[in-house]
Amino acid sequence: MSLVTSKEMFKKAYDGHYAVGAFNVNNMEIIQGIVDAAKQENAPLILQVSAGARKYANPIYLRKLVEAAIEDSGLDICLHLDHGEDFEICKQCVDDGFTSVMIDGSKYPFEENIELTKKVVEYAHSKGVVVEAELGKLAGVEDAVKVSAKDATYTDPEEAAEFVARTGVDSLAIAIGTSHGAYKFKGDPSLDFERLEKIEKLLPNFPIVLHGSSSVPKEFVDLCNKFGGQIPGAAGVPEEMLRRASQMGVCKINIDTDLRLAMTACIRQILIENPSEFDPRKYLGPARTAIKDMVAHKMRNVLGCSGKR
Ligand code: G3H
Ligand code: 13P
Ligand code: ZN
Repeated sequence: MSLVTSKEMFKKAYDGHYAVGAFNVNNMEIIQGIVDAAKQENAPLILQVSAGARKYANPIYLRKLVEAAIEDSGLDICLHLDHGEDFEICKQCVDDGFTSVMIDGSKYPFEENIELTKKVVEYAHSKGVVVEAELGKLAGVEDAVKVSAKDATYTDPEEAAEFVARTGVDSLAIAIGTSHGAYKFKGDPSLDFERLEKIEKLLPNFPIVLHGSSSVPKEFVDLCNKFGGQIPGAAGVPEEMLRRASQMGVCKINIDTDLRLAMTACIRQILIENPSEFDPRKYLGPARTAIKDMVAHKMRNVLGCSGKR
């Protein structure tokens, strides 16, 4: 039981045709809920921390909580920086003991993205840390419906192969139609599986990453709204599409929004039904269980990684 890189996890996931879940963490209850699910499901696990999470919780608290989770659960966990925007934050996380970092240079032109990624890879690899990069831009709701926007923003397969060869990166996040948050599609949801297949052909035995992979289950949105929430017409990636991607070369699937929804629906319901409640344990405890249930469901029914530890 220790902090591990995702190298072995991805090799097993690639060969076994499933994906490892990467879940965003911001506080103790979220970490506990996710880790409880991984333990129950005997599943490999990546916990990821965004710059916003570091700012919210103070990096040392999150790292110590993850160390506590490892000690308490006996699991191996990969601790990953999500969307590192520059070399400095990646270096800081490598120096702080993260086992994996993402350098997100997707907003830069191709050559600049390569230069930045190479610099992070060089430093991280010298410390035994693995690196995820991103090529292509995740679509916004508007982009997703415009076919012309696809070619401009989705990952180009030839470029992906060149990017990996020139940077030495360990995994690559690609854009095939997913996007962050609760509003991913205006019309019918669709992912560009043809493009994914092309990328996989040019990058055999290489782990692909999908960001923006929450499914935004209607029952949780309805639950939030039933108790006074005002979440308008949200739309996520259908779970069967994520299952299909997991069986292909996608080895890491990022989920944050669905955990936020599960947690918020639960807390909202408790506080509305019990207006005199003011003990945080009485709503954060059930919220932790709601997160556990959501993560266990993803591992078992969507990613296919239950029992793969
Ligand atoms: O992709 C972003 C993750 O959902 C993290 O979101 O930056 O609000 O922590 P955040
Ligand atoms: P969602 O917003 O779809 O959960 O995506 C999370 C993510 O990609 C974190 O990097
Ligand atoms: Zn992301």
